[in-house]
Parts: sequence; structure tokens; C-alpha cells
Amino acid sequence: MNINPNYENLEQSYLFSTIAHKVNDFISKNPDNKLIRLGIGDVTLPLCKAVTDALHKAVDEMGVKETFRGYGPEQGYDFLREAVQKYYKKHNVELDLDEIFISDGAKSDLGNILDLFNTNNTVLVPDPVYPVYVDTNVMAGRKVIYADANGENGFLPLPDESIKADLIYICSPNNPTGAVYNREQLKIWIDYAKKSDAVILFDAAYECFISDENLPHSIYEIEGAKACAIEFCSLSKTAGFTGTRCGYTIVPKALGKLNKMWLRRQTTKFNGVPYIVQRAAEAVFSEEGQKEIKENINYYKENAKIISDTLDKCNIWHVGGKHSPYIWLKCPNNMKSWEFFDYLLNNAQVVGTPGAGFGKNGEGYFRLTSFGSRENTSEAMKRFEKLF
Ligand code: MLT
Repeated sequence: MNINPNYENLEQSYLFSTIAHKVNDFISKNPDNKLIRLGIGDVTLPLCKAVTDALHKAVDEMGVKETFRGYGPEQGYDFLREAVQKYYKKHNVELDLDEIFISDGAKSDLGNILDLFNTNNTVLVPDPVYPVYVDTNVMAGRKVIYADANGENGFLPLPDESIKADLIYICSPNNPTGAVYNREQLKIWIDYAKKSDAVILFDAAYECFISDENLPHSIYEIEGAKACAIEFCSLSKTAGFTGTRCGYTIVPKALGKLNKMWLRRQTTKFNGVPYIVQRAAEAVFSEEGQKEIKENINYYKENAKIISDTLDKCNIWHVGGKHSPYIWLKCPNNMKSWEFFDYLLNNAQVVGTPGAGFGKNGEGYFRLTSFGSRENTSEAMKRFEKLF
């Protein structure tokens, strides 16, 4: 047998695993530490009541012969796809049910979708970037090129017409920088993609953090997007499903063969999301669920404001946090990203994510998340104020 040689071209370990190792090492040497984790974007508020009620009910159904369910449709139950369809309608996006595919989260589908594309395609990603976009393509041996995101373009790069790409990743609101594309900017990407017959892989995992009604939640709010974009979304950050696992991917029929190919791929390699989880996800879209998750999102936004206000006080340059759970800051005293990571861990016992882990343009930057508890976020910021 021959192993896949492309794995040799990957970083030794996934960014968040590297951080977890470093943190575990620190904990073993400092067992009495008061560590605060604002690194990986994992939520801390529990599932809301509408969701847990739906879970309990679905569990009970599964324990009764008459309502028990075995294999479900690989692309998701209609009750959930209809709920997603209605949600898109609120943003004036009309979708057919067979364009909506329920998944176990955006991360899996962002990787799995690559089954539909030839390995000779060139992939354009922003830098800094969520590492999954790069690593999944490196695993397949695709060529990856970068669009520079930096202070000058507000971390929102636009296409360079002289560069040809086949697959284009866009994440808005952005992980890691928190920057959000407006309608005009997305239109430029759509026109570029159409001109070069490229497909945009649009990661909308943080759309629920958008608080300006002029900013688009979905790329399909922009004319022409259905003919060139696949959209991925997740309930992880929206409704605290990081451990429960549920998301959805939209493959419009205007993309031609890709819709049927994705169905073929899913029916072959995926057996669907558990019934009980899909019932929980359906509850997220109910009136009660929407109200409850908004309260949780507002709680995280308050945390973001606490972080942002403290950084202002300390004169630390930063962006994000307004339409996103992430705050992207310039490391104080010209420290490099990993240097700042160690400094913060050792001197304030606060864990963040080094910008350099997201790409070369992330060097010298650092990401904090607002997903911590209020108490931990405030305490972390007190420690910041003491240090800077
Ligand atoms: C992050 O911290 O960037 C996210 O939690 C990663 C993810 O959603 O997989």
C-alpha cells in the first residue's frame, strides 16, 4: 500500500490541538493555576430550554415502538429542512427543500464538499484563515493560493483579477478577524467567480452575530450567488451546538450537477444526523428558540464589548467583536503571536489563539473569543489591565 504523501505537507498538528497540548503542559506544571480559556471558539452557555425540551421529547419518542426511528434521510428530515427554508426566507432568500442538506456541522461539510472537485483545482483562501480550509485541500494535494487580508484592506481582501482560482473560500463574519463583507464587496467576489467559472465556498457559521441589518447574513442575498456559491452554516455558535453537532449546507440547483453530486456523496458516505439532534435543531428555529438563543448571543456580545473596552483602555489595537464573537488584536510591545501566547499564559494565565496559527499575515496578531463566562471574561480583562 502507498500512504497519502500529501499528509507530509501538513503542519505537524491542527492549530487547536497544538494549543491544547501547550495548555495541558502548563496545567501539569502549575496545578494551582487559575487558567481562563479564551482560545478555541467553544461556547460556555448551556443549550436553551426550547432545545432541551425538544431533546427530551425526541428521546421519549425513540423509546416507544410506535414512534421509534431508525435510519433517517441522509440529507435531513423535512421538518428541519423546512425550518431552515423559513429562516432563509426571513433574509429574502428562497430555497427549495432539495437544496438544503442537514449536516453534523460546518467543519465536516467544508472538508467533505471537496469530494466534488478535481484535485487539479486551484484554491484561493484569505490569509489569515480558518485552518480547515487549507488543511483539507493540502490533504487532497490541491494547490492553495492566498488573498492577503491585512490592516490596509480591513482584513477583507477583494479578488485580484489577474489571478485565476477554481475554488474560493470566504468566511463572513470572519474567523479569525471578525471582519464582515458588505453587499457590494460580496458582489465583487461573485462577479469574479462567475467570470472564471469558479465556485465560492461561503462559510456563514457566524452569521447570527451580525447586528447591522444592512450586512448580509447569507451570500444568496446578493444577486447571482446561487449560480456560483455553496453556503455552509452551523448551529454550533448560533445555539451552543458545539457538542451536540448540527449544521446545514446549501447547494443550489443553479450550480448544475453539483446539487445531485452532493446528494449522491451524502447518501453514500453519510447516514444523517441523529433524529433527536434534528428535533433539537428544529426547536432552535421556533419562536421560543429564536428568543432564547438571541439572549445567549447578546450575552457573548456583551463579553466582546468588555474585551474591546479593556483593549481600548490599554491602547491595544483591535478589530472584530461587533458582528462576531472574535476580537483580533495587535500583540502589545511588538511581540510575535506565539511569544504573546506564552507571555499571556505565564503572566496572566489567559489562553488565546496566536494569529500566526491562521497564516503568515496573522503574525504579530492574536485572537480572543467572547464565548467565555462573564465572570472569566471580566477577570481575564482585569489581568490584562494589570499587565498593560
Ligand atoms: C475556532 O476557534 O476557530 C472554532 O471553534 C473552530 C471551529 O469552529 O471548528
